[in-house]
Formats: sequence, structure tokens, C-alpha cells
Amino acid sequence: MKLKTYPDPVLQKRAVPLRSITDADLDKLRKMRDLMYELGGIGLAGPQVGWSSRVVVMDTDGRGEGERIFINPKIIESDGMAEDQEGCLSLPGIRSTVVRAEKVVVVAYAEDGKRLEIDAEGLQARAWQHEIDHLNGVLFIDKLPAAAQMNIRHRLKELSS
Ligand code: CO
Repeated sequence: MKLKTYPDPVLQKRAVPLRSITDADLDKLRKMRDLMYELGGIGLAGPQVGWSSRVVVMDTDGRGEGERIFINPKIIESDGMAEDQEGCLSLPGIRSTVVRAEKVVVVAYAEDGKRLEIDAEGLQARAWQHEIDHLNGVLFIDKLPAAAQMNIRHRLKELSS
């Protein structure tokens, strides 16, 4: 399993829901989780490993415990507004301020098929919005105002060459 970086077209494709969870899917999800830790990330979405399914692995506090595999996640509520710096494993060397909701409620399925409802705020809420954007083929650089887009233009060109 390898990380896909910009401008790989899989990153701009809308991922499809997983209809059932097979052993092969679980194996892939666990590999994704390992890769996330290996790369020092706090979250990784299917498209980032070339898997165009609605799957996310996440561990925002880095404690390596609790649910870290999420299937078909969906934001059902969002509230407030927060600005903070963001980066992405698939966009090495780029960081920029992104406006997001401050809090979100996410519904997802765990690896055992259990329905989860997650109340997220702060970094966790930001990570959820970032990862679900990935599932919709959206990168954080797509959300930047024109001036910030100008600032990263050179680096994007480097990544493209
Ligand atoms: Co990302």
C-alpha cells in the first residue's frame, strides 16, 4: 500500500460507499491504519491510498486506542466556525489556514459493523471535515481564498512536475 500524492487523479474522484465489509476490506483498512502511523498522520482517507471507497482511518490524539477505522462516514450536523492551519499527507510541503465548522457530528460504521455517532470538536472536527472532503474528491487547497492559492501555486507546480 502506497500513499498517493497530488496531482494523482484518484484524489479528485468521488469515492463510493462500501456496501459490505469483507475480510479483504478489513485487511486493507488495517494496512491503511498502519500506513497512517508510519507516515505520522492523524487521518487518512481511502482515495489517498488509491482506494476509491468511503473509508477513513483516524487517530487525532495519537493514543492508538478506541475506534480508528470508519466506514461510510457522514457529517449529520455541523456548528460554528473555526480557522486553523491545515496540511495533508497527499500535499507534502503545503500548509495553509482553512475555515471549517467548529463542531461536527459524524455517523459512521466501525469495523465490526457497529453504528457509531461521534461528537467532534477542535482538531477532531477539523480532521473529520478534511477526511470527508477527501471522500468527495476535495482537497484543502480547493477551499483556499485566491490570495492563499497564489502563495502555494509554485509548490503545486513542483509537485506536478
Ligand atoms: Co488529507
